[in-house]
Amino acid sequence: MHLTGASALVTGGASGLGAATSRRLAAAGAHVVVLDLNEELGTEFAAEIGGTFAHADVTDPAAVDAALDAAERHGPLRALVHCAGKGGTVRLVNRDGSPGDLDLYRQLIDINLVGTFNVLRLAATRMAGNEPVDGERGACVLTASVAAWEGQIGQIPYASAKAGVVGMTLVAARDLATKGIRVNTIAPGVFDTPILARFSQEIRDGLGAQVPNPARLGQPDEFAMLAQQVVENPYLNGETIRLDGAIRMSPR
Ligand SMILES: NC(=O)c1ccc[n+]([C@@H]2O[C@H](COP(=O)([O-])OP(=O)(O)OC[C@H]3O[C@@H](n4cnc5c(N)ncnc54)[C@H](O)[C@@H]3O)[C@@H](O)[C@H]2O)c1
Repeated sequence: MHLTGASALVTGGASGLGAATSRRLAAAGAHVVVLDLNEELGTEFAAEIGGTFAHADVTDPAAVDAALDAAERHGPLRALVHCAGKGGTVRLVNRDGSPGDLDLYRQLIDINLVGTFNVLRLAATRMAGNEPVDGERGACVLTASVAAWEGQIGQIPYASAKAGVVGMTLVAARDLATKGIRVNTIAPGVFDTPILARFSQEIRDGLGAQVPNPARLGQPDEFAMLAQQVVENPYLNGETIRLDGAIRMSPR
């Protein structure tokens, strides 16, 4: 998908993997709408890359539609990179013997899985109205996690949601095939983003050392490089790509 003269929506675009991707897509010629809950960070960052900030929750249809309106004011929406997501711990049986928190489970499924469906359906609807370029109307990249296959203890909601994202990838690509819109997913391993900021340097180094090769945390720009390639490569469709230095997460 060619990005020059087009607009792109990057959710979770103010931080981490989304910010690195926003920067790359802007450098490739797209007008990037940085959608995020974090208004302060997002406004400053969008200005820095010559894009537009949209304050929205990915689960809110009206707010996401407003962000898409903002994107289309700068050219047809040709790319979506959906990075917004959130972790959180839920056990099946708590230490005190009580059952795990159902409300928190629902909340994390809502953000990570329902939010993905919401953004994908609304972005694809806009892309479907584009004039095709070399047979393509648009390209969508979703973000899962290696937790989709190797969720660690406590990651039940996150792992369920990310497995749902992996599960929707092929069917979404099939669903949108006749419209000339591709859908792929990237499943990151452990990346050095603010999501890991709550851990000490020692824990972060330890996580990096568990990666077979290269034995370090992933850099956000390594995710962004792949996201750009997935958007640009017209033959890549319906696939989930692990980007993880060959790590396979242990139970804890
Ligand atoms: N960093 C990692 O090691 C790693 C590993 C596997 C998967 N992931 C996934 O990659 C994605 C990006 O993670 P990151 O590490 O860049 O995290 P991050 O915390 O740096 O960035 C996430 C951004 O999403 C935004 N956000 C969260 N909930 C939102 C919502 N409901 N609506 C709109 N914006 C929302 C946050 O404000 C934040 O700016 C997430 O989906 C995460 O699950 C990250």
